[in-house]
Amino acid sequence: MSDSQHGGHPHRSRRNERGPRSGGGRGNQRGGSRDGGRGGGGGGGRTSVGHSGHAEPLPTDLPATEFAAFDLAPRIEAAIAVAGYVTPSPIQAGMIPLVLDEKNVVGRAQTGTGKTAAFLVPLLALLGASEDEERIAKGEPEGPVRILVVAPTRELAIQIGKESEKLTRFVPVRTVCCYGGTPLDTQIRALKNASVVAGTPGRLLDLINRGALDLSHLDAIVLDEVDRMYDLGFREDVDRLLNASKSRQQTILTSATLNSDVEDLIAKHVGEHERVIIETNSLTVEAIDQTFYFVDPRRKPDLLFEVIKTLDPPKGIIFVRTRFSVDRLTYQLQQRGMGAELIHSGLPQPKRERILEMFREGKFPILVATDVASRGLDIDDITHVVNFDIPNSAEDYVHRVGRTARMGKEGAAVTLVTMDDGPYLTAIEKLINKEIRQEIWPGFEVKKPEPAGAKAKKKAARPPGVPPWANVARRRK
Ligand SMILES: Nc1ncnc2c1ncn2[C@@H]1O[C@H](COP(=O)(O)OP(=O)(O)OP(=O)(O)O)[C@@H](O)[C@H]1O
Ligand SMILES: [Mg+2]
Repeated sequence: MSDSQHGGHPHRSRRNERGPRSGGGRGNQRGGSRDGGRGGGGGGGRTSVGHSGHAEPLPTDLPATEFAAFDLAPRIEAAIAVAGYVTPSPIQAGMIPLVLDEKNVVGRAQTGTGKTAAFLVPLLALLGASEDEERIAKGEPEGPVRILVVAPTRELAIQIGKESEKLTRFVPVRTVCCYGGTPLDTQIRALKNASVVAGTPGRLLDLINRGALDLSHLDAIVLDEVDRMYDLGFREDVDRLLNASKSRQQTILTSATLNSDVEDLIAKHVGEHERVIIETNSLTVEAIDQTFYFVDPRRKPDLLFEVIKTLDPPKGIIFVRTRFSVDRLTYQLQQRGMGAELIHSGLPQPKRERILEMFREGKFPILVATDVASRGLDIDDITHVVNFDIPNSAEDYVHRVGRTARMGKEGAAVTLVTMDDGPYLTAIEKLINKEIRQEIWPGFEVKKPEPAGAKAKKKAARPPGVPPWANVARRRK
């Protein structure tokens, strides 16, 4: 696949005939030539801000991919080939044509099945890049922002920014990441020269309020992990962001779990849309071997140490409910000589990023985390997820265990369940439509707790302190 071959791409001219977009003013720009880029330069740069916006020269002899069927901009297709993507995943096959047709799209598919590229590939392909080439030659700034991706955590925003950089390596498009805990001024400067922004709601609103982020020319907004984005914690911010980007032409919502909050969001901000739901037997990936152990709460750390000792190879995330318990458990693991580090929202941002980077690089085997690491993070070769504390929300379980077994790989998820956790376990099994296998660790056996309903019934039959022979109902008469 060479540049000249791209130039002769049979579908390219057909795309150009799409003409102005129905949305008006920016149609020509966005529907224009999808090829572009210029030699020289080079990507890179600090992730927290974004890459330079210069394009790498297009290599020759790239392998053909099945993405060719989408009639994408050749330089985006080339980046897909370099990324090693050959066959579109089901969510990509479903979403890419619809996004290319400039539809609003709601997409749901299991964790680790390529939802990021399902929205980034077509959106980036729709960005007219030839005009950008001329503009850069003239030394004009790149803005205003055309694609905005909003994510619930800083690390996920960074990861999406990186995926965008990967896919735009051959086009002169700059991606900027905007998230809290980092200096505002660098982001403000970078935004003057950016087409794609990935960020978290709070910082994005801050930048809008300061006049540094202009959404009036936005082509598309994406809410990744949309159910999380519209829960109580984020709802007001997301309402504000969507109201501030009214001139957008497309809204795209994705997650592995959708709920009634998302329906509220659609009714309020989206309206007409297409849905791509990749139906599977269970919400969780088949390749995750899911088990749980009943355990006495005081013995949870001991059982965890036993579990960790058996991990081979040991690369796992241990999810814990509170920041305090993350700190304590990590300390206990380190005391026992197990290579563990921690991540939660109480750490300074540079440290959060450093730890995650080291974990990605395999510098230590065990990451202890709160739910700040449960959504969207794509870390190679995580073999195990351990729920030291069972999550209170069944959706969180789906996302936590989804950090393993991504894109066809295998993985295992182990959940420690105490006597009081029964209802949470039931709710999870109901949501994922799958029974989680119970295992017994010799030496840690406990009696299975009675179902919550049975306990409640017993209580109702005889209030505390009333002797068994007393018939309360009759006495009241
Ligand atoms: N077509 C493809 N072929 C091979 N690998 C792919 C393809 N598309 C994406 N990937 C890779 O698959 C992995 C998972 O992708 P991604 O993070 O987008 O999943 P996701 O569906 O968003 O998961 P989650 O629900 O956890 O956020 C990434 O490492 C990505 O680079
Ligand atoms: Mg994702």
